[in-house]
This record gives sequence, C-alpha cells and structure tokens, in this order.
Amino acid sequence: MAAAPASSSAPRPAAGPEPDPSTFIRVRTTLPRRPFPPNATRQPITTERLTLRVLTQDDLAALHELRTQPEVMIWTALGKPDKDLAETQAKLDPFLPPRDEATFNFAICDRATGQMIGIGGCHLWRSAFGWPEVGYMLRKEFWGKGLGTEFLRGFLTGVREQLIAVTATGNDKSQGVLGKAGFKWFTTWLAEDLQKGTGPGSMIELPTFRYFPGGKKGE
Ligand SMILES: CC(C)(COP(=O)(O)OP(=O)(O)OC[C@H]1O[C@@H](n2cnc3c(N)ncnc32)[C@H](O)[C@@H]1OP(=O)(O)O)[C@@H](O)C(=O)NCCC(=O)NCCS
Repeated sequence: MAAAPASSSAPRPAAGPEPDPSTFIRVRTTLPRRPFPPNATRQPITTERLTLRVLTQDDLAALHELRTQPEVMIWTALGKPDKDLAETQAKLDPFLPPRDEATFNFAICDRATGQMIGIGGCHLWRSAFGWPEVGYMLRKEFWGKGLGTEFLRGFLTGVREQLIAVTATGNDKSQGVLGKAGFKWFTTWLAEDLQKGTGPGSMIELPTFRYFPGGKKGE
C-alpha cells in the first residue's frame, strides 16, 4: 500500500512538513523492485546531445562545481551551495556502491565532450507521496537549450513506474521541463521553507507533479 494525495480538486492540505495524511486516500499500487541493478550493470542512455551514465567517485569535483553554483542551489531544499568537498561527497555517496541499489540517479554528460553538466534521476525510492521521486540539476551555462527536457525524456524511456516530482513556486523552468516531458500537476502543498528557518511565515508552496508511464491518467 502507498499513500496518495486526494484528487487535484480536493482542498489544499494543511501546512506541515509532509502532505497531511488526513487528506490522503489509500491506493494499492506498485513500487520498483529493490535492489535496483547495481551501477556496474547499468547501461548508459544516449539522447541527441546527452549521455546519461552511472555516477562514479571520479565525478566528485564536477559535482562540487555544480553544487556550488548559487543559481542552481537556490532551488534545492536548503537553498545554498555546498560549503566543502565533504558536503558534496555526502550527496554523491547515495549513488555509489553499495547504496546504488536503492537509487537510480545519473550523471548528465555532454555527449560530444563527455563533460558532466548535471545530475538527475531517481534519488528517492519512496517519496512523501509513496512513489519514487525524480530530480535534476544542470550547470547554469547549459540552461535554456532544452537540455533539461531532453534529459528527462531520455531518463523516462527506461521507466515503467509512476513517478513524483516536487517543485517550488517560482521554478517555472523546472515546471516547464516536467510539462514537456509528460508530467501533470496534481497538487500544491505547504512545507516549512528550510531556507527561511522555522516558525510562522516560513512556509513554501510546493507544486507537485506526477507521471504515468504510457500516458495513463491513473484516475
Ligand atoms: C530546471 C533546469 C534543469 C531546466 O533546464 P533547462 O535545460 O534550462 O530547461 P529546458 O530548456 O529544457 O526547458 C525549460 C522550459 O521551461 C519553461 N520556462 C522557462 N522559463 C519559464 C518562465 N519564466 N515561465 C514559464 N515557463 C518557463 C519553458 O517551457 C522552457 O522550455 P522552452 O522555452 O524550450 O519551451 C535548470 O534550470 C536547472 O538546473 N535549475 C536548477 C535546479 C532545479 O531547479 N532543479 C529542479 C528542481 S524541481
């Protein structure tokens, strides 16, 4: 069993760190079987301009560069760049053996040069909504060329499971990417904004999208 939010016409869930369980309905559904295939057996996914490949320890420096771009990090929960390599290492570790069997995240690389320009995929097997959660980030120099959309469409070619993506109000680019790749908005909920600290007035709206493989409505 997995919890799922009520339909998009339901009242907005009460404020809280996660969607209010009292407004959930319960549905019987599936989740991807774990362990996932280990990194060592995962094949790259190739799109017109990108190669999506498994992450390795050698990606630490490139990941650190990505995660120290303020324009990128403002859209993460904490909203600020990693302060040192150790902090970036802690973000890389879930995607390396032995923890690779619980995640499905890729290095997003320029197909022509091999440069790692981003990271994306499934970093969370079970989101607050039950289904796996998708996320992505690209180096700012590569924005606005359709690469975010190309990544997500490429990633989805291997997906047979329902997926969730949580955005923040104002992240129009990310919402545009989701829409173009076939995700549909279904709810907007409130959570504590970790960038503002705790307490009254520190809430953030999180428009949330879902994806049904094969375009099923699931309703
Ligand atoms: C989100 C991100 C991956 C987008 O990458 P990108 O390669 O620039 O995205 P694309 O070019 O494929 O698509 C962006 C789309 O957003 C939409 N968009 C962009 N700005 C918009 C705006 N101001 N209003 C409405 N839609 C907008 C458009 O549909 C645009 O596509 P189009 O102009 O080609 O039709 C990138 O901006 C990024 O890494 N941001 C920081 C991290 C992040 O926000 N991650 C997602 C967290 S939920």
